[in-house]
Amino acid sequence: MDAPDVYTNTDEDYLAGTRKRSRPGTDPSDKHYEQVTDGAGRKVSNKPPNKPFLKAKAQREAHAARVADDAKRRAGQNPSSIPWGTIMLVFMFLPLLSQFSTGSWTFNLSPHIVPPIQKYWKTSPFNPNKIKLRQFTPERLARHDGSNPNLPLYLAIDGQVFDVSSNRRVYGPGGSYNFMTGKDASRAFITGCFETHQTHDLRGLSVEELKALDHWKSFFADHKSYALVGHVLNPDIDPSTPIPPPCDQDEQPGGTAPGSSHAGPHGPQVRPAPAQSPVEARPQAKGKAKGEL
Ligand code: HEM
Repeated sequence: MDAPDVYTNTDEDYLAGTRKRSRPGTDPSDKHYEQVTDGAGRKVSNKPPNKPFLKAKAQREAHAARVADDAKRRAGQNPSSIPWGTIMLVFMFLPLLSQFSTGSWTFNLSPHIVPPIQKYWKTSPFNPNKIKLRQFTPERLARHDGSNPNLPLYLAIDGQVFDVSSNRRVYGPGGSYNFMTGKDASRAFITGCFETHQTHDLRGLSVEELKALDHWKSFFADHKSYALVGHVLNPDIDPSTPIPPPCDQDEQPGGTAPGSSHAGPHGPQVRPAPAQSPVEARPQAKGKAKGEL
């Protein structure tokens, strides 16, 4: 039997002075609540008394989603699951492994890694103290010949000044090519007359010979750890002074003929085979100390 309709008013229900009853939701003064699905899949109103139950349902759903996501990640299905922890551990372990196996913290790679980074940093726009190209007087440049260990080692070639401090063994005091520092000895780069041609005077050299100078300029400019730091204001050459005479070819390292365009170990030309060990053959090895230059 159908339940009696207690909501539909009849005339008998109406008494003067009383409010007419109506079906819930049909009275214009009734509040309307949205219909939502509850935890059991039923459509229910989201009226305030239902809110705690609906909130609990939302929390259960969020939890289930998290559990599913974790399971997916563990199964390796999620490409964004990078094992950062493991990667960090490996990186922390590598220096130790290097120290045990090679005795260095960087698998002996620091000479190859550090200088290029230093060179980049010296001129990097991100470096607040980056090198600003400077103008050197010959006197100012001369201070960078290694005699003051606190100053960087600079050498000049065709007016360009390079920082060669990263190779102190070769350019520092006692090094084979220390005589090149603190000055522009461009002519010596071409002629190999390391003692008598320490000058920027290039008069009398052939086009071919001047190409060798370009080679050396590129050598320093492109070198992974030498940086251009400025220019030297070489004094003008007095045209009335004599062109530096060729040096005695017997005295050249490896027997290099004066005026020949031999450009050393990095040059395009073939270096004459040294009759003795290169270190003995090079100028400093002939007893030429820095102070005597
Ligand atoms: C025009 C002649 C020459 C010039 C201008 C010249 C110049 C140079 C320069 C600038 C360097 C240093 C390169 C660097 O920064 O790494 C160098 C290195 C060297 N040069 Fe010469 N060189 C000449 C002739 C020779 C000759 C004839 C020999 C051999 C007998 C020689 C043997 C060496 C050696 C062995 C090194 C390596 C030094 C080291 O790393 O300890 N060079 N040369």
